[in-house]
Amino acid sequence: MADTTKQVQQWTTRGDGLDNLSRSSAPMPTPGKNEVLVEIKAVSLNYRDTEVAMGLYNHHKSISKEEKPLVPCSDMCGVIVAVGPPQDDDDSSSPKWQKGDRVISTFIQSHLSGQITAADMAQGLGKPLEGVLQTYRVFPAQGLVKCPDYLTDEEASCLPIAALTAWMSLFPNGDAPDGEGGKKKKTVLLQGTGGVSIAALQIAKAAGYKVIITSSSDDKLKRAKELGADYGVNYRTEKEWQDKVMELTDNQGADIILEVGGAETLYKSLDCVAFGGTIACIGYVSGKEDAETQTRMNMNLLVLRRNVTLKGILVGPRDVFEGQMLPFYEKNGIRPVVDRVFGFEEGKDAFQWMFGSGKLFGKVVVRVS
Ligand SMILES: NC(=O)c1ccc[n+]([C@@H]2O[C@H](COP(=O)([O-])OP(=O)(O)OC[C@H]3O[C@@H](n4cnc5c(N)ncnc54)[C@H](OP(=O)(O)O)[C@@H]3O)[C@@H](O)[C@H]2O)c1
Repeated sequence: MADTTKQVQQWTTRGDGLDNLSRSSAPMPTPGKNEVLVEIKAVSLNYRDTEVAMGLYNHHKSISKEEKPLVPCSDMCGVIVAVGPPQDDDDSSSPKWQKGDRVISTFIQSHLSGQITAADMAQGLGKPLEGVLQTYRVFPAQGLVKCPDYLTDEEASCLPIAALTAWMSLFPNGDAPDGEGGKKKKTVLLQGTGGVSIAALQIAKAAGYKVIITSSSDDKLKRAKELGADYGVNYRTEKEWQDKVMELTDNQGADIILEVGGAETLYKSLDCVAFGGTIACIGYVSGKEDAETQTRMNMNLLVLRRNVTLKGILVGPRDVFEGQMLPFYEKNGIRPVVDRVFGFEEGKDAFQWMFGSGKLFGKVVVRVS
């Protein structure tokens, strides 16, 4: 059973800025039926976590805007230290965990399979649910997946959001990669060298795709090429990077674009996507709103022009994470790129480094215990 004499150490935010992230302690929770207590070993940060801490994560209508103290972050690797009372016989779908099992969290705890729903949006870790930047947390048994043995805690903590989002973007119809990039070797365009894009680079190369990646930094492009990227384009110096993408694809365009930029990048993506290609709409690091002064062709026309599919992505379900993505990672020996590891007491520094330093490449991790 849980050692209730111990206190849980945690970071909390009121959504009032990265400087105001603070440390506190809380009573040790006890797992109930179909629940387990996890000792958290490592937590990786996502762009979303910085938004939550700054009070800027407010574009999902179904998630409360209330800013009460909240433990941030959703992605962790840890070890089960206590299992709740025996599970109901009729709940055979719930995983049967044991003390000592190494586990990884899933972002939306209730999203087990298929299409995400409005109700699932209330089950995201690190807002609206209490997050994982703490030493212990109780999880429902179904909110965890088994950690592959070959990954370190830090590496495994990088997978729940960034890697699964990349996976769902590259294989939106569940078409399992065959290692040869499909019948026609597909070209993937990745924007920037953050968590999602670097995970996508690793997955796409293991799947046999051709990868074009953009970055604000030549050094980062060099690192991306060392990871297998076929072409790098500096979006700072090459402002019309969509033209370069067309040139690099013999004027065909990219078959799949992982659109993490948003306001400043989507229209350029629509100019360099292949006929019949897919733009996975993921993020908004360059802004959530278009500049008011811009007059441009209507989205309907832009999409029909090249017969494009715009596919909104909201991470992905547990069964794809566990049943498709993790086996693919293991088979191909993919190790997530951990750029920098901070100690638990340096939690605030980790957020500031992730958001403000401009140095990020891949993932930032906080070592918890
Ligand atoms: N929909 C979903 O399910 C989902 C899941 C995960 C993330 N997201 C969203 O996707 C976005 C990326 O997330 P992340 O965790 O990968 O972020 P991240 O690790 O913080 O990486 C952000 C990267 O974006 C690049 N960037 C910044 N401005 C850019 C621009 N104008 N054009 C191209 N690239 C630019 C930068 O790369 P360089 O330094 O190389 O320039 C930066 O490192 C965020 O908006 C996040 O909220 C959505």
